[in-house]
Amino acid sequence: MPQLAYVNGRILPLADASLHIEDRGTQFGDAVYEVCAVMNGRILDWDPHLVRLRRNLAELGIVLDIADGPLTLQARRLIAANGYAECIIYMQVSRGTAKRDHAFPGAAPANLVMTVRRFDFAQRLRQLETGIAVITQPDNRWGRVDIKTTGLLPNVLAKQAAKQAGAFEAWLVSDETVREGSSTNAWIVKDGRIITHPTGTAILPGIARDSLIRLAHAAQLVVEERPFTLAEALAADEAFLTSTTAPILPVVRIDGTAVGSGSTGPVVRRLAELVWNEVARQTGWRA
Ligand SMILES: Cc1ncc(COP(=O)(O)O)c(C=O)c1O
Repeated sequence: MPQLAYVNGRILPLADASLHIEDRGTQFGDAVYEVCAVMNGRILDWDPHLVRLRRNLAELGIVLDIADGPLTLQARRLIAANGYAECIIYMQVSRGTAKRDHAFPGAAPANLVMTVRRFDFAQRLRQLETGIAVITQPDNRWGRVDIKTTGLLPNVLAKQAAKQAGAFEAWLVSDETVREGSSTNAWIVKDGRIITHPTGTAILPGIARDSLIRLAHAAQLVVEERPFTLAEALAADEAFLTSTTAPILPVVRIDGTAVGSGSTGPVVRRLAELVWNEVARQTGWRA
């Protein structure tokens, strides 16, 4: 069976799925997106993803003419049609198709596309043992990175630099402060305190980040949402990152320097237990 995609109300083979070349997402990056994890056929944290999508659309004044209920049904329909139990679903909403002009077009309806891709979440549990390395890169993105737009060129270049350096991720640094990764949120642990950059306009408010904060609080762990410097990260006891596709991974090297013991630490292990238990609670998925 060919892989299937969703385009403006229709499910069709991925190879036949397309948007007009004057889609504003292509020409201007005038589009927002979400990526959700699907495990055991169930979407993890669907409601918070929907809330973030609606907020991003509102921030940019993009009108998506489909209510949450039907959107949820369409997403589930696409997942079921592809028949993948473990996958990620990508949803993108652009301002629509119109003659190229920077100002918003008058009546163009938004374009909604969705794709799914198989994903091996069990690899993230294996990486929990080995840990991953990050490099640092300057954060040269625009001033509203809290909006999840498809304008990801700085993120793309940072991730490619990480790949070329043999690292998993690039941490984006501005004025000595570690903001987040190119597609993940960044965390350190010092003296038992779990530290991550506060939300606002300088980071993407990650769904996995939010979930981890809630789980940590419920387990009586101390979380500090405050900026931290690269020097602090290098002197931290532990470090880690979170995202939809990497719910929690220990960062054991930063720019080639070992973090703490250079291997997975006790706080990250405890948090990983909380995170993966929550996945099991919501979806029933266990490795
Ligand atoms: C820049 C950036 N930060 C953080 C994240 C993590 O967000 P989430 O936990 O919602 O996947 C992402 C996810 O794509 C991202 O692109």
